[in-house]
Amino acid sequence: MQSVADFAPIVAERLLLRPFVVEEARVIVAYRRDPAVARFQGWGVVDPGEIERDLEAMRTRTPCDVPGPWFQLAVVSRATRGIVGDVGVRVLAEEPDAAEIGYTIAPAHQGQGYGTEAVSALCDWLLGPRALARVIAVVDGRNAPSIAVAENAGFHRIALVETRHTGAPTALLTYERRQSRAVP
Ligand SMILES: CC(C)(COP(=O)(O)OP(=O)(O)OC[C@H]1O[C@@H](n2cnc3c(N)ncnc32)[C@H](O)[C@@H]1OP(=O)(O)O)[C@@H](O)C(=O)NCCC(=O)NCCS
Repeated sequence: MQSVADFAPIVAERLLLRPFVVEEARVIVAYRRDPAVARFQGWGVVDPGEIERDLEAMRTRTPCDVPGPWFQLAVVSRATRGIVGDVGVRVLAEEPDAAEIGYTIAPAHQGQGYGTEAVSALCDWLLGPRALARVIAVVDGRNAPSIAVAENAGFHRIALVETRHTGAPTALLTYERRQSRAVP
C-alpha cells in the first residue's frame, strides 16, 4: 500500500507543497476559523477532531491515488518552513483523468503571490508528471482574489451557474486548465 512517504513534495520557487502531519491540524483550524477565509468556502463549522481524522486518513494515501476523496497538501515557505496555507485536490469520480482543486492562503500571508504560485505548481504537477487531461476549480463569483488566482494560474472560465452558496444568491464559476498538447 502506498503512503505519504512515497510522495515527493512539489517544489516551487518560494514554496513546497507537501502532505500534512496530523499535529499540524491546529494550523488549519486557526485560519479556517477566520471569517474572511471561511466566507466563500462551504465547510461550515470547523471541527479540529474532524480535521485530525482527515489528516490521519491521508497518511495512508497519496494525492490522486483514488477518485473521489480530497487530499490536502500543506503550502510551506521554503525560507521559513512555516505553513502559509493549503491546497486540496480530488480526482473526479465520474472523470478519472480530471481533478478539482481548492486553495487557501492564511490571511497573514495573502497578497504576496503565494496563492498563484501554489496553484500554478499544483496544476503543473497534475497536468505534467501526473498526466491528467484537465483541472477544474469552482469559484464563487464574489470571490475576486480567488478568480484572480485561477486566471493568473492559466485557468479559463467554462461555466457559470446561478445558485445560492454560503447563504446568498451568487454565481458559481467553473474554471478549467487543460493539458497543452503539442500540435502535430
Ligand atoms: C484566494 C486566495 C487563496 C488568494 O491567495 P493570495 O496568496 O492572496 O493570492 P495571490 O497573492 O497569488 O493573488 C491574489 C490576487 O487577488 C487579487 N485581489 C486581491 N484582493 C482583490 C479584490 N478585492 N478584488 C480583486 N482582486 C483582488 C490580487 O490583486 C491578486 O491578483 P494579481 O496578481 O492579478 O494582482 C486567498 O485570498 C484565500 O485564501 N482566500 C480565502 C479562501 C478562499 O476563498 N479560497 C478560494 C476558494 S475557491
